[in-house]
Amino acid sequence: MFDPNRVTFFDTTLRDGEQAAGVNLNAMEKLQIAKQMAKMRMDVIEGGFPAASPGDFNCVKSIAREVKGLTVAGLARTTEGDIRAAAQALAGAERARIHTFIASSPIHMEYTLKMTPEQVLAETRAAVSLARSLADEVEFSAEDASRSDIDFLIKLFKQAIESGATVLNIPDTVGYALPDEFGKFVKTIIDGVAAPEGVIFSVHAHDDLGLAVANSLAAVRAGVRQVEGTINGMGERGGNAALEEVVMALKTRADLYGLSYGLDTTRLYSVSRLVSRLSGVVVPPNKAVVGANAFAHESGIHQHGVLAKRETYEIMRAEDVGSVPAVMVLGKHSGRHAFRDRLDILGYQLDNDQVSRAFDIFKRLCDEKKDVTDGDIEAIISDQILAVNPEHRFELSTFAVAVGSGLATATVVIHRDGVEVRDAATGNGPIDAAYNAIKRAINFSPTLENFTIRATSPRSDSLGETVVELRYGDVTAQGRGAETDIVKASIQAYINAINRLYTQAAAREIKFEEPVNANLC
Ligand code: KIV
Ligand code: ZN
Repeated sequence: MFDPNRVTFFDTTLRDGEQAAGVNLNAMEKLQIAKQMAKMRMDVIEGGFPAASPGDFNCVKSIAREVKGLTVAGLARTTEGDIRAAAQALAGAERARIHTFIASSPIHMEYTLKMTPEQVLAETRAAVSLARSLADEVEFSAEDASRSDIDFLIKLFKQAIESGATVLNIPDTVGYALPDEFGKFVKTIIDGVAAPEGVIFSVHAHDDLGLAVANSLAAVRAGVRQVEGTINGMGERGGNAALEEVVMALKTRADLYGLSYGLDTTRLYSVSRLVSRLSGVVVPPNKAVVGANAFAHESGIHQHGVLAKRETYEIMRAEDVGSVPAVMVLGKHSGRHAFRDRLDILGYQLDNDQVSRAFDIFKRLCDEKKDVTDGDIEAIISDQILAVNPEHRFELSTFAVAVGSGLATATVVIHRDGVEVRDAATGNGPIDAAYNAIKRAINFSPTLENFTIRATSPRSDSLGETVVELRYGDVTAQGRGAETDIVKASIQAYINAINRLYTQAAAREIKFEEPVNANLC
């Protein structure tokens, strides 16, 4: 039954969030995040933009088939091809939503669409009607709404309702709005459209001025009942509204909002960690709600206050967002059961084969270090189980490095499509030398766009985790590796990124030149 006081949450981490520079999640990683969203009782998840690439299409399709208990949305422009692709990808969903959009601001209509307002109205009518005939529900977004003429927007939304849309989204596409102004703008639209019962308004805010959450909350106060955003605020430019912040504001200030929602906030922390690990986008320690220091009190006065009465300096409880410190450290005596329980607490849902492979890696790790921390386990799962490309054309066989002062030499042996190739090269350090040797061995030289290395826990026996981003032409891919040996972790990350580059290219139907003259063993 329709409840006018319930706010629904629409997560677009896998679509708008993935548009963040340098982020590309593979199908297994997206599915893992989607499953966690369902467990957190997310209302709607936007799995991708099916017409954008075969890879996106397949991701939406597998989420629609495998993730139950929520609505799965697919993005579509107003073209017939986009809408039919979205409908096809969503076919297996428990509840399918086509999310179609067209720009409504003068600047976009003139320069990007090259359409008149009348043409935009006609496109909307045709697109929403077609979408409604192919999916359970239709959401219509007026892109760049916050810079659009309000009377035109009202007309456009009325048209969308007439054609069958039941969710009307008001995006602040370029993060231009200010909260007071935006709240009034949204209220004028809602009043002007006077939608029938069952039709809801939605907000989709970007964070270019750091106001996405504030604007989303202003829109809720003005009457919208769906909030779109991403976990950790991930997204291109300044990102999107951070959903964990919006829901915790509704919870903490229930006195003001008095609205209900279905999200289980105690899963926010683990979902945030999962998204951060799989995307490679680090959460700043002072990030609201899910940052590592979000509940840490450093100053003596604050510590004293919190010990005397927690509410003196804490407005939320760490338990309410699931940010409870790990008490259990696993080691070589830990069994499969304890390992599986820990995976569940950390927010991973793996099949039996994945658990078996992860458990074997865990057991080998126990021989190298006494205690295995949550950070180590997360690195094993995200880097050695989920991030591994399903098609690995390139695999490390063995390597050797020799390091002197300011000069290193590396030799690598790699399987390329099952054939062994090898080469050696120098560099200014062991990782530089190894990367030069790999490029020579496989005769393929992508550009290194990004390289980070960090410890999975603050201990000298921790795993070294490397994240590498490579570019070849306009295809980019990220690879990760986690090992107690940081050179090996760096090599694994590099090879993993190369495998993913090939997969990305295939998904976009781009053909790389096949390497020639590689040094066969
Ligand atoms: O920011 C935006 O306007 C969008 C739309 C597609 C909803 O992402
Ligand atoms: Zn957006």
